[in-house]
Amino acid sequence: MSFVLALDQGTSSSRSIVFDERGQVVAMAQREFRQIYPQPGWVEHDPMELWHTQLATAREVLAQAGLSARELRAIGITNQRETTLVWNRRTGVPLHNAIVWQDRRAEPLCAQLRAQGLTERFRERTGLIIDAYFSGTKIRWLLDHVEGARAAAERGELAFGTVDSWLLWQLTGGRVHATDVSNASRTLMFDIRANRWDPELLETLQIPASLLPQVHPSSHRYGEIDPALLGAAVPVGGIAGDQQSALFGQACFQAGLAKNTYGTGCFMLMHTGERFQTSHNGLLTTSAAQAGPLDRPEFALEGSVFIGGAVVQWLRDGLNAIEASSQVQSLAESVPDAGGLMFVPAFTGLGAPYWNAQARGAIVGITRGTTVAHIARAALESIAFQSAALLGAMSRDLSAPRLADPPDGPPGGLAQAAQRPGARPDTLVSAVTELRVDGGACVNDLLMQFQADLLGIPVVRPKVTETTALGAAYLAGLATGVWSGTDELATLWQAERRFHPTLSRERAQELMSRWERAVRQTVAE
Ligand code: G3P
Repeated sequence: MSFVLALDQGTSSSRSIVFDERGQVVAMAQREFRQIYPQPGWVEHDPMELWHTQLATAREVLAQAGLSARELRAIGITNQRETTLVWNRRTGVPLHNAIVWQDRRAEPLCAQLRAQGLTERFRERTGLIIDAYFSGTKIRWLLDHVEGARAAAERGELAFGTVDSWLLWQLTGGRVHATDVSNASRTLMFDIRANRWDPELLETLQIPASLLPQVHPSSHRYGEIDPALLGAAVPVGGIAGDQQSALFGQACFQAGLAKNTYGTGCFMLMHTGERFQTSHNGLLTTSAAQAGPLDRPEFALEGSVFIGGAVVQWLRDGLNAIEASSQVQSLAESVPDAGGLMFVPAFTGLGAPYWNAQARGAIVGITRGTTVAHIARAALESIAFQSAALLGAMSRDLSAPRLADPPDGPPGGLAQAAQRPGARPDTLVSAVTELRVDGGACVNDLLMQFQADLLGIPVVRPKVTETTALGAAYLAGLATGVWSGTDELATLWQAERRFHPTLSRERAQELMSRWERAVRQTVAE
């Protein structure tokens, strides 16, 4: 039996999972770390805490599985994306705390870039919008605000990395400074069609190229870990940002296959094959995790919802409606429906497809008959409504008349496939036919059924729902010969349950219209 260790460094905890060659979980360990909030809107992590909790869980999981590191064929890394670290190349000492993806401090700089009319240039190269979410403007903030940082960067003394690069650097004893395409694609500095750092964008952002890691495919032999750490020089064979890793772990390797992860937020990604498809409906274009060579880029469309499962935390901690998150399903099920309530959990503004930072939460439709159970049900339903809005945006992008777009423009035209001589013609996808689900809240049957009802397509829950870590394990195992290719991986993916839609399309559309009306109320002046 072969074993692969996945390191899953998320926003709230570091986890390590050992998988066997059938893609089954053998053991798992997890440690939380501190969230640091220096000011409203700022979120930081301590880089050494990220590393130490990660290493501790790796040691724990091996002990639990009764394995020695010599029995591991490879290590894969997956991580919270965009979170930005800068450290000294010689000493390894971090310049500052990690600036977390949720941190809004770079917003004034983003507003300036938008005012300079640079939105289309960034979108065309990176597939992203100009937003403080991504790494580029966070690096610029560090260079501008940490004393001596810019001069040190210009002398080539500093290294930038997303969390994967930081862990890889630590694992290899400071020998390897690298990242993969899926993480690079979240930095606002990376040309995702050419798969290289973009000199023009770096100049616009005033970021010296000497800071940057080398970029490789997601499945790649990045280097061997320092044997002193776990007891053997295990190769790191895979790296991917957590959402692209989950797409890979869900065996969504082809255009049209989509997954939704129900975590604190919700992240829906659809593979678009070799097609660089910009969205006209508020989604991002991003690099998919790549098992093939760098000159064969693969893409995905992505929509991110900021408050998903977090709405259940609010029911627990803000409203005291439940004592434990697991009680939400029974409370919601104690009423037949939400009693006409619409709950828009825009606690921190709205992400895709609305992108409205000013919106705030609202519960509309309260009557004398409204109870806390209706609020709980509406809260759960809000997760499905937001996800359905993402799928609606994807469907609109897919059904737009892409063949009418001229091949070289306008920027963002849907016909802009990977512009590489000899690119394979894309599979023409016109609709998503099922949605694969994972993440903590996918265990909630009520939510999954309502999701299928709204979408009108089956929602499919796999047997192994640890798909984020599984994706990283697959990528690492592909690079080291544990698995032969994505065809073999596709045979390992198995459905645990399919939720089939039961609502009429008319009723689903009526509900979606009511949802959109409620959203408009949260963004009204
Ligand atoms: O883009 C942010 C995302 O990668 C964070 O994921 O699961 O750590 O909250 P998670």
